Amino acid sequence: MDTPVALVTGANSGIGKATAEGLLQEDYHVVLWCRSQESAARTEDEVRRSTGSDATDTIAADLTDFDAIRDAAQIVKDRYDRLDVLVNNAGVLKETTDRNEEGVEETFAVNYLAPFLLSHLLLPLLTRTADAHGEARIVNVGSDAHRGALRFDADVMSEGDAGLTAYMQSKLALVLFTNELARRLKPTGVTVNCVHPGVVATNIWRGPGVFSWLARRVKWFFNSPETGAEGPLYLATSDDVKDVTGAYFDETSRTKPAVAAFDEKAAAELWHRSMDLVDLDPEDTLYEPPDM
Ligand SMILES: NC(=O)c1ccc[n+]([C@@H]2O[C@H](COP(=O)([O-])OP(=O)(O)OC[C@H]3O[C@@H](n4cnc5c(N)ncnc54)[C@H](OP(=O)(O)O)[C@@H]3O)[C@@H](O)[C@H]2O)c1
Repeated sequence: MDTPVALVTGANSGIGKATAEGLLQEDYHVVLWCRSQESAARTEDEVRRSTGSDATDTIAADLTDFDAIRDAAQIVKDRYDRLDVLVNNAGVLKETTDRNEEGVEETFAVNYLAPFLLSHLLLPLLTRTADAHGEARIVNVGSDAHRGALRFDADVMSEGDAGLTAYMQSKLALVLFTNELARRLKPTGVTVNCVHPGVVATNIWRGPGVFSWLARRVKWFFNSPETGAEGPLYLATSDDVKDVTGAYFDETSRTKPAVAAFDEKAAAELWHRSMDLVDLDPEDTLYEPPDM
């Protein structure tokens, strides 16, 4: 395939949808990952109409379901011989505590463990693309809310409740993962960065909790999804950041994440706990992890 391929999770709504549209306008072939077939078909219709491009494909899988993620990733690997950009965008601010099959609180499952698992499953395709075409990029859509978590506590993934604390911890986990994966991928030509998209008027604020209620009252002041997509699109496509990896961006500006994001001990513990929780074998990955 000559056209570069991008995959965007949470492509039916908000920042993910605007990112998918932006990538189509930049002439990428875009795989729209949505929770259900219905949502994927509707989204494909909408983005084809809004962009005038039909270079789309769809994948449906619930990101709390690790088996479904495995099956969907296999479909991507069977269909494509390249993956230039993976945008781990889907996210949730849950107000009720639900746990998936593996006993993981679902905020963590969607915001952190799904990107962890999906990135690993697609690494063979990403590294092959980097070998053949000189680069491949993973963009993790994080949040400045990670600054609210003073230190990462791996126990909260399976023992904690949902809500703002879980959201902050899950986004800190995503920054720790970005740093650790970047370190491990250094020899491969695959870059991985994390971006806070700004404060954006999207469905993430649809929950019943007080914080979401307050956000809905003032969301007229928030950025549009198109503005929110500027950071993810910059990291996915700009030559300025071609060789940048393990960095944190506030929209399109590189900045430092919270001090807790540099805790290498927490990152290593998180890595091993995550491998267990998603049942990944380090042998399954193409890269050679350096000695811990
Ligand atoms: N909006 C902000 O101010 C803001 C600020 C900082 C960071 N972010 C981050 O930006 C990212 C995008 O969020 P958004 O603001 O654009 O909110 P959004 O409009 O609610 O989009 C979230 C996307 O994630 C998908 N998703 C959630 N749970 C899923 C699951 N179990 N399986 C599959 N897909 C699932 C949603 O699908 P459904 O529509 O089917 O639920 C939706 O497509 C998130 O990572 C969020 O944390 C947002």
